[in-house]
Amino acid sequence: MSTEPRRLLPLLSSHRPGRSAVTCEYRCGNACAHPAPNTSDNSTFADVAKSVLSRRGALKATAVMSATAAGFAALSGTAAAESGVPVALAGKGGRRGERSVPGTDFTPVAPNTADAVTVPEGYDHEVVIRWGDPVLPGASRFDFHNQTAEAQSRQFGYNNDFVGLVAQDSSGWRYLMTVNHEYTTESHMFPAGTYDSANPTEEQVRIGWAAHGLSVVQVVREPRGGLRVVPSRYSRRITLNTEFEVRGPAAGSRYLTTSADPSGRSVFGTMNNCAGGVTPWGTILSGEENVNQYFANADAVTDPVEAERLRRYGFAAGESTRKWERFDKRWDIAKEPNEPNRFGWVVEIDPNDPDSTPIKHTALGRFKHEGANVKITKDGRVAVYSGDDERFEYIYKFVSNGRYKPGRSAHARRHNSRLLDDGTLYVAKFTGDSPAEEIDGSGTLPSDGEFDGTGEWIPLASGDVSHVPGMTAEEVYVFTREAADKVGATKMDRPEDIEPNPVNGRVYAALTNNSDRGMAGKGAADEANPRNGNRNGHVLEWEEKRGDAASTTFTWRLLLVCGDPAEADTYFGGFDKSQVSPISCPDNVTFDRYGNLWISTDGNALGSNDGLFSVPVDGSHRGQVKQFLTVPIGAEACGPVVIDDVVLVAVQHPGENGTPENPESHWPDGGTSPARPSIVAVWKKGKWGRSGRIGS
Ligand code: FEO
Ligand code: CA
Ligand code: CA
Repeated sequence: MSTEPRRLLPLLSSHRPGRSAVTCEYRCGNACAHPAPNTSDNSTFADVAKSVLSRRGALKATAVMSATAAGFAALSGTAAAESGVPVALAGKGGRRGERSVPGTDFTPVAPNTADAVTVPEGYDHEVVIRWGDPVLPGASRFDFHNQTAEAQSRQFGYNNDFVGLVAQDSSGWRYLMTVNHEYTTESHMFPAGTYDSANPTEEQVRIGWAAHGLSVVQVVREPRGGLRVVPSRYSRRITLNTEFEVRGPAAGSRYLTTSADPSGRSVFGTMNNCAGGVTPWGTILSGEENVNQYFANADAVTDPVEAERLRRYGFAAGESTRKWERFDKRWDIAKEPNEPNRFGWVVEIDPNDPDSTPIKHTALGRFKHEGANVKITKDGRVAVYSGDDERFEYIYKFVSNGRYKPGRSAHARRHNSRLLDDGTLYVAKFTGDSPAEEIDGSGTLPSDGEFDGTGEWIPLASGDVSHVPGMTAEEVYVFTREAADKVGATKMDRPEDIEPNPVNGRVYAALTNNSDRGMAGKGAADEANPRNGNRNGHVLEWEEKRGDAASTTFTWRLLLVCGDPAEADTYFGGFDKSQVSPISCPDNVTFDRYGNLWISTDGNALGSNDGLFSVPVDGSHRGQVKQFLTVPIGAEACGPVVIDDVVLVAVQHPGENGTPENPESHWPDGGTSPARPSIVAVWKKGKWGRSGRIGS
């Protein structure tokens, strides 16, 4: 028996854990280098937790024990051990003798730092579309050395994130694929020596505008597996030059008017579109996230109320990273003080109508929306869940007044989209059920064996009626963070993707990390965010009362407390921690047809590349995390889609730790080619040249 301490991951010293400096600068404007903007003194959990006796009584011993040496010793001497994969995971089942849960029956890949996409044995993968590939008719061939804004506006944009598939037939043969292009990394988008970040050219800036937004392409299934882009009338590029209609209660607000748009109802462009969701009516919702970083000169605003609003959203003094303000005054807050208020919304795109005007939905509130996902309430209304992705921010829900019309006809799409203009916006408050003194910030489970409790949805505004003292409804929608501060919402560890499980009806939220949790003067650990200096994140699960998305109360528990399973501060749904893959920084989530949760990661703090993981959420395998793939070095895994025999993952910012002079990645094209963000399809190699079912 080996006495070596278990390390599923090689400890890599070549680059620091988490995101690179380049990613931090271009993706979120170095959010982590700045103080978290939420300085409100909302009550923390510890203040309100009731001292309750353990309702379960017994400690769940397997969950709190760190993995034993014996558990690892079993790895020695096997190929699986050499690859860093627990033996039991390398076989059929989780626990010995048990079969895997349908949808998750694959041999997990080992953590690694390869400049490649690594998929399980028996699976294959291929790039579907990459940055610069043609989208619109007449798009010119991608030429890294001679890129133009005109070419980029017809090509696939940069840094793909969310991916949404909308079926176009009942056989699952043809889909419209909509992709977010979250942000541009100008330092990597031009040949070495040609981009001066202090003095970008106007053409380079315009390329950036054209590389943001979304792409819509039609894809068809390949019989052997994967998806292929085909020319179609649905092909579309949405950029920072595309006109959007502002809808809902804040449309026309005095906070949204500018010199270019005195109506406050028409905005050019969307940006920093992070995650999103496919609505039941077949449209795409997409979240505008770190929009603050694109604007310059917040310090020009001296009115204390207005200055505080800008500060609360992270708008900064001086020049912006990309210097766009030099070429269009709307990016200069000193000249257009309301332009920032026109971003930070959930937008809706109808991929089935390429001539439709995309919409900004103000009823869903303005914050750093990670994404938005819909669940139909028991009485047929529409609920939308959305997280505000920053340290110590909140989780929100919108519930419509009107009722959903089933189907995806043009009439149904128009009707259902209108539902998002009229309803109630809520923010979440989480209360734990364990004594406050048992939540000590170490990640040690409380004596009832779970981080869990109850929650309530606090209303912020309904239509034109504000529920927040001192704020009008219009202010609640435009300055939603301030409204949530006032009602005592729970500060969370970076709420990212939130999605209802279509099989069990519960809702799942990824909380990526929060290194500031528990630091002096910052929010203390609470039962919903139980670790100080949280580097690895956690996954939260809740069940609305009566399973109804319209309910205003819920129960919750943590499904995963992520990290190295060998560490005592991790928790895998109570599953045997010697039989799981390490997972760090959960970001985007989706579900397969069986209701298994699939999680992609952003900024693996354990030193390996990011990846995509499956985890059953019910039954005896609940919590059994298995790594399905890894993405290339420097990349983040985004936008996962899992359909019966295809997995899609968006490989965002490959090689971002490198420089054009010293590239870290040449993925996907190899040789000396520049790294290009791309969508990848993965399939199981099946019989007779046909793809098989994922995880079966
Ligand atoms: Fe764009 Fe929240 O990651
Ligand atoms: Ca508890
Ligand atoms: Ca994300």
